[in-house]
Amino acid sequence: MDGTLGAGGHAWGILEASSPDGRLLGMDVDPQALQLAQEKLAQFGERAILVQASYTSLAEQLKALGWQAVDGILLDLGVSSMQLDTPERGFSFLAEAPLDMRFDPRNPRTAADLVNKLPEGELADILYQYGEERNARQVARAIVRARPLSSTRQLAQVVARVTSGGASGIHPATRTFQGLRIAVNQELERLEAVLPLAVATLRQGTTEYPAGRLAVIAFHSLEDRLVKQYFRREGRDCLCPPRQPICTCGHKAILRELNRQPIRPQEEEIRQNSRARSARLRIVERLN
Ligand SMILES: C[S@@+](CC[C@H](N)C(=O)[O-])C[C@H]1O[C@@H](n2cnc3c(N)ncnc32)[C@H](O)[C@@H]1O
Repeated sequence: MDGTLGAGGHAWGILEASSPDGRLLGMDVDPQALQLAQEKLAQFGERAILVQASYTSLAEQLKALGWQAVDGILLDLGVSSMQLDTPERGFSFLAEAPLDMRFDPRNPRTAADLVNKLPEGELADILYQYGEERNARQVARAIVRARPLSSTRQLAQVVARVTSGGASGIHPATRTFQGLRIAVNQELERLEAVLPLAVATLRQGTTEYPAGRLAVIAFHSLEDRLVKQYFRREGRDCLCPPRQPICTCGHKAILRELNRQPIRPQEEEIRQNSRARSARLRIVERLN
């Protein structure tokens, strides 16, 4: 199962590697992504089953197909290159576009709604927690004063007046855009919800057949921390405080981490695709 189909690049690789009869359920909330994936994966015919749905609905999707469990699940989180490079989607501050930022056009709440309607304090919390913007209060105040804001450039200019990109040299609006995007698409809530569902969906190992695996690619520290903490907790047999001599929690590990340190792209890959530079891949295997 590919829970974040995008343009179908990973799905293509999975279908190739599972030839001749491996089947793949691919999901994305973005109909434009699904269309691209459909074209890319057409050669695999009925082996590729593509649906417009959130990965959080994976149990329902599997039930509809009559599948009990899967061999592998991939979540390649965040925004796709197609979405970033389509100016009218509003993900980039480099182009003039409406403040949209929705992965799923059925989602009633756009970035413009957040920017123009949220109380200043709530906006500041989003920028601080999801954007990791140190000057969140000043940025939120400047946004509220400049309301109504309708375009990406307008927002980027307002932000640039009150904060800098810091020592990293990034554009001052980078953090604000990241924070709004995460909030609009409820990215962290959905990630938190899907991890236990995904592990429960993996096939249990037998003597003839290996256990199912979940692979997650995160692109910023908030996502990666959430994934890492979940994998650490669920990879342990007991969660009692370390000084407690006897376990009273009864917690049992449900997964095994295959890599304690995240797998990072090598220099060659970053040279070919600079957007891969912040990717961190973690893989776990289901325990019986
Ligand atoms: C980084 S891209 C994936 C790229 C893909 N692996 C490829 O090879 O082209 C992430 C995708 O996840 C989708 N997405 C984000 N949240 C989702 C969710 N809750 N359920 C399903 N898809 C989601 C986005 O619309 C986007 O297309």
